[in-house]
Amino acid sequence: MNTISFLAARGNLISVTMAGQGPPLILLHGFPLDHRQWLPQLSQLATHYRIIAPDLRGFGRSTLTEQQYTLAELAGDVEQVRQHLAPDQRIAVCGLSMGGYVAFEYWRQYASNLKALILANTKPEADSDQAREAREQMCSLARQSGSWQAVAPMLPKLLADHHLSTESAVYSATQQMLKACSVEAVCAAQLALGNRADFIAKLPAIDTPTLVITGADDTIAPAEQTRKWAAVIPNSACHVLAQAAHLTSLETPDEFNRLVHSFLQSLS
Ligand code: MLT
Repeated sequence: MNTISFLAARGNLISVTMAGQGPPLILLHGFPLDHRQWLPQLSQLATHYRIIAPDLRGFGRSTLTEQQYTLAELAGDVEQVRQHLAPDQRIAVCGLSMGGYVAFEYWRQYASNLKALILANTKPEADSDQAREAREQMCSLARQSGSWQAVAPMLPKLLADHHLSTESAVYSATQQMLKACSVEAVCAAQLALGNRADFIAKLPAIDTPTLVITGADDTIAPAEQTRKWAAVIPNSACHVLAQAAHLTSLETPDEFNRLVHSFLQSLS
């Protein structure tokens, strides 16, 4: 596994962790996480793929030069990653939650560079006014009391009950990522997430082969709704993983990796 940084749009340094060789698979993390969310994929899927896991602006080791960005711009960062690391190649993009919103944007702007889409624990619809308000409150709390105070209430929603113990390795890994994020990263991401585009009407136009995954206990991207919107994407399959909530890739990595590998193999 190795990490490089390169200069991207708006003077940001984008840090990318990579492992393995083979067809490129770009992994986009959720909020408020970083590339470490994908450690089980960086280790286990690297025998088949070139795993490329960027830190999105402001998270992990990537910088945030400006307080405002859009998810469309983050998709532009992903395209720069592709141009640097996999030029002339079509890529598979796998995004979880916020990473999934970025994957939708990547499809909208760069569909011809996509070989496959994997949308995990995410949703195509834009925020309600209520959801946007909650994001503003999270940012205010982060500014007042620090980012950990603001994001800590998310922990029980990210993981299934059986992981919610300080003895669980999944719990400590998740907590570590939440504790690492800055106030600026929280606020800029919440603003971008609140302003994201609605993809519901575009779902029938997604002609990229698509795998949709969520966790049986995910309350942020619930199984029933996920099955419904996934069915609208023409060339898609949807799987719900038992024993997992919002962070399927980390909670049930073996099942997650098996699904991803058999989906990608079926396309080659
Ligand atoms: C995430 O896990 O990326 C977030 O829950 C997404 C969101 O806040 O909509």
